[in-house]
Amino acid sequence: MPQTHGNPLDEPAADPFEIAAEAAADIARLTGVDRHDIAVTLGSGWGRAAELIGETVATIPAPDVTGFSKPALEGHVGTLRSVRTAAGKHVLVIGARTHFYENHGVRRVVHSVRTAAATGASTMILTNGAGGVRETWTPGQPVLISDHINLTAASPLEGATFIDLTDLYSSRLRDLARSIDPSLDEGVYCQFRGPHYETPAEVQMAKIIGGHIVGMSTALEAIAARQAGMEILGMSLITNLAAGIQTTPLSHEEVLEAGRAAEPVISALLARIIEAL
Ligand code: HPA
Repeated sequence: MPQTHGNPLDEPAADPFEIAAEAAADIARLTGVDRHDIAVTLGSGWGRAAELIGETVATIPAPDVTGFSKPALEGHVGTLRSVRTAAGKHVLVIGARTHFYENHGVRRVVHSVRTAAATGASTMILTNGAGGVRETWTPGQPVLISDHINLTAASPLEGATFIDLTDLYSSRLRDLARSIDPSLDEGVYCQFRGPHYETPAEVQMAKIIGGHIVGMSTALEAIAARQAGMEILGMSLITNLAAGIQTTPLSHEEVLEAGRAAEPVISALLARIIEAL
């Protein structure tokens, strides 16, 4: 049942997988859909995709589901939607992301991913708005995530849980995305803690260590999705060139505006990818 006071994930003795199973039961009850096949988390700029993926069966406020909290940020819709594609697949559309910078702990950050797995989803699509390190990229451009560098110094894995992260962002799914849009470029995503944007020196560091995209989500979620056995597709909308790569200061408004401008095109692209899964 949804919490009225604290979040059950904050209890140190809680089992996050049991809470994810409860959340999945809430979703089944509230949407009337017993099992989902695919889950997609919509980051800034990707929100319109929900309407294009298929027919919405049910929309539920995220806080009605066990372990979910209210969204911290404008531009992040706090709902979960069950959508049926033309091919009859059930897609759980997650419009409620808890960021690591909110300081609620990693369990809460990855709860939506674990819940998605508990609803039956075998594919996890993670999208975000992020900064571009490559000068050749332009704001409004979607790129595939090929790998990540986790700079948060945190992990969703607890205890001695050793998990392989090779091909974390499925090359099969990246190929499939490129079969829909051959112009899609790809790069390595660096997750910083945030919520401040990076300094130009940090962006240079990201570049030197092999990063092409800088952001504040996704890497921790991808690790949890791998632990849950899901196949992962990661996509970033480049909302701005990263600090120091672009010469003007960064602003959250600029990020939201780039998201709004690109939304119809990238949402349609995402819907076509999901149709092809
Ligand atoms: N850095 C980190 N996160 C972001 C950025 C950025 O430049 N743009 C949008 N999200």
